[in-house]
Amino acid sequence: MELSWWKRGTIYHLYVRSFADTDGDGVGDLPGVTARLDHLSWLGIDAIWLSPFYRSPQRDFGYDITDHTDVDPLFGTLADFDHLLAEAHRRGLRVILDLVPNHTSIDHPWFAASRASREDPRREWYIWRDPVDGGPPNNWRAVTGGSAWTLDERTGQYYLHSFLPEQPDLNWRHPEVRLAMHEVMRFWLERGVDGFRVDMVDYLLKDELFRDEPLDEHGRYEPALARYQLNQAGTLDLLRELREITDAYPGRVLIGEVEYRLPLPRLTGYYGHDDMLHLPINFWLLFIPWRAAELQAFITDYDRAVPEHAWPNWVLGSHDISRMATRLGPDHVRAALMLLLTLRGTPVLYYGDELGMTDVPVPACQARDPWEGRDPARTPMPWTSGPNAGFCPPEAQPWLPVGADHVHRNVTAQAADPRSTLTFTRALLDLRRTHCALSRGSYEPVPAPEGVLAYRRDHPDEDLLIVLNLTGSPVAVPFRGTPLLSTHEETAGPLRPHEGRVMEIMR
Ligand code: GLC
Repeated sequence: MELSWWKRGTIYHLYVRSFADTDGDGVGDLPGVTARLDHLSWLGIDAIWLSPFYRSPQRDFGYDITDHTDVDPLFGTLADFDHLLAEAHRRGLRVILDLVPNHTSIDHPWFAASRASREDPRREWYIWRDPVDGGPPNNWRAVTGGSAWTLDERTGQYYLHSFLPEQPDLNWRHPEVRLAMHEVMRFWLERGVDGFRVDMVDYLLKDELFRDEPLDEHGRYEPALARYQLNQAGTLDLLRELREITDAYPGRVLIGEVEYRLPLPRLTGYYGHDDMLHLPINFWLLFIPWRAAELQAFITDYDRAVPEHAWPNWVLGSHDISRMATRLGPDHVRAALMLLLTLRGTPVLYYGDELGMTDVPVPACQARDPWEGRDPARTPMPWTSGPNAGFCPPEAQPWLPVGADHVHRNVTAQAADPRSTLTFTRALLDLRRTHCALSRGSYEPVPAPEGVLAYRRDHPDEDLLIVLNLTGSPVAVPFRGTPLLSTHEETAGPLRPHEGRVMEIMR
């Protein structure tokens, strides 16, 4: 049976603000993405997931929306979006949008009405509570720090915001809120988008009694394990509704961002019985120590935990976390890319990771993120060695610094260099496309010398073996096979330090 495109393909996580700026305001835009589609086709990815480009005051860079069905002028127009979608589809690339259902901007007309008076019909669209003992209604924390409650003097009640105070949480227990968000989905599905990445799904429902979270010995609680502020059983019913809407349009995909470090039964619970998320994002590779034994154990546990009807997925970078090359160190980049693109399941590749891009230090005076520390992983894509790395016109001021290393690390230079990380990523994507064992083969862990991660991808037509030396020393390979691709130039002899190899095993 043909695999759905989202099982077969690789998704490219594209941070629109930082991809390509065509109008010279220093911020990437939709026409910029359109202009680079040929490059993305050349690279060999299958779908792009676009970070939010809706109308927004940009206090959380688009995750604070004032109009879910229009494009912010910063990024272009609806016509620009339609053009981007048509051009992507013409090249066989799918387009996935970021859907942000948990909260809106404080400036959304819905919230303006809601806060205007306790009697307003929109009051219940958000979560309002009376003060308790002159303070917040309970001990819930915002992910961004501090209490999750802010007092609105006008009506004397607190509103809930799981993130910034400028991002009030919607009340998903209210049927009209659900319907409104369903309409948003239909608006984009009707326009032809290929699916959604749903932001922070585990926050959608809160405890009806607003009970305090139990605190650990440090007076904190871990969101992945929180009982009342998020992770409510009823969330699964909400996801079923979102899935029904998605499924009414053939061939679309529903991906969901869930808390980091979710215990596996909770993570895989979000698949439901193939009636909730197609792909609850598996962030674990961002957190487990980069050592063969730990990686092997997790990958195997996860592979086994994913229900038979469901499909795994893998992520090595995101706009919220320090970049792969910085977290793991430059030596590990190629083996990490090989891992991401040869595991069983859909890979999500974060823009720039295909170049081995590192975090760019952002001086305090240029910092933009209202939370701490996410700017360095969101800096402009380096296209050339020229001014502003070719991201925006030379006279423009990019919204974040481009970093010094674009002079040698940029798309143009790497595309022309057969030994570059970009060329290597392209070769991996090509291998994934042309070897059915990589897209649909089973995953089997293989015992290997210490520090080496080895696994097979078996398929009725071919068996592949992937060996990754995660150590800084050479290791003899006790495996036989025909080398198909290496992270290094030569594919014979012992594995070099940090070398990864894909081999075909003779039957
Ligand atoms: C998700 C997004 C993050 C955003 C947050 C609040 O975690 O990835 O960038 O700040 O949700 O919407």
